[in-house]
Amino acid sequence: MNDRAIKKEIENAGNKEELRVIELRYLGRKQGRITLRLRKIKELPEGERKKEGAALNHLRGEIEEAIEKKRHALNQRSEIDFSGKHFDISLPPHHAKNGLPRSRGHLHPLTLMRREVETIFSSMGFAVVDGPLVETEYYNFDALNLPPNPPARDFWDTFWLQDPKRSGEKWSVPNEGRLKKALPTTHLLLRTHISPMQVRFMEKNNPPLRFISPGKVFRYEATDTSHDVEFMYVEGLMVDKNVSVAHMKYILFTFLQKLFSNKSMEMRLRPSYFPFVEPGFEVDMRLAESSKWLEILGAGMVHQQVFKNVGYIPKQWQGFAFGMGLDRLAMLKYKIPDIRLFHAHDIKFLEQF
Ligand code: DAH
Repeated sequence: MNDRAIKKEIENAGNKEELRVIELRYLGRKQGRITLRLRKIKELPEGERKKEGAALNHLRGEIEEAIEKKRHALNQRSEIDFSGKHFDISLPPHHAKNGLPRSRGHLHPLTLMRREVETIFSSMGFAVVDGPLVETEYYNFDALNLPPNPPARDFWDTFWLQDPKRSGEKWSVPNEGRLKKALPTTHLLLRTHISPMQVRFMEKNNPPLRFISPGKVFRYEATDTSHDVEFMYVEGLMVDKNVSVAHMKYILFTFLQKLFSNKSMEMRLRPSYFPFVEPGFEVDMRLAESSKWLEILGAGMVHQQVFKNVGYIPKQWQGFAFGMGLDRLAMLKYKIPDIRLFHAHDIKFLEQF
């Protein structure tokens, strides 16, 4: 047994397992070669025992030391196998296992869009608030100045959780609104828009105020490339003493310009009707003079009746409100052809973002 050869063997061990095998081969308590020879010393003639013992102990010390050194060196080495052919040294460490990209989680395009919208409005001083998905008829309709008759309830196609056309339901919730005596409409529904958050927020806060409220809304409709039964929406409201249509135009224009990073974007207002605003508008934009006008959102100056409904003194305050579909914005920004893709769980689609 020559110590140079053993040291070379130790030096060549490729990993900790190989090193352990070598260690056992020489120093193993039962079959280790050094161990066996040490055990045989007593069979030697007296004169040779001492010399052999000293030589073997020296050798054992050398082997132990070499193994310790090697073990330390192996521990220092990262777990990445640099000998692999496909290892790309330029990849960040989380990609490095076997040189193959490790898949990471990523955000849904609608989440990306929501965050972008929140960032832009936050930069203009708007708070971001959340609201309930299950609403009462009062907040979704009455408090927003939609009269309590069946045609007004058809303003949006609604998923009713309690049918208002049926009389004598067994269950109902307490009416939370301030008009509870006048309008006992407490049926539950899935919110069709987030304009109800105007009312909820103003009931609890005094002006001046500005906030947006993003989230899901639901419509009981047939689906096609631009309609789904569920989509993301964002409502916004700003109330102060002298808020005018000019403020509304500036805020909405700045928002759209930032969102589409497009300086030549144009925006126009068309008159429209929503019972909770007066005047009401449909807001269109176009990204270039050569392209089509696209309807982007609904907006208007808050109807004084809505201020009355939340307990503000009428005529003291002015404000504007707006509501838009985030899915639609995301489709335009990311050039997505079909709104239903957002909920189709198609990994190829989702991984593009
Ligand atoms: N809530 C309306 C809808 O879903 C959109 C809307 C229109 C919101 C005008 C507003 C507004 O705040 O002022 O169709």
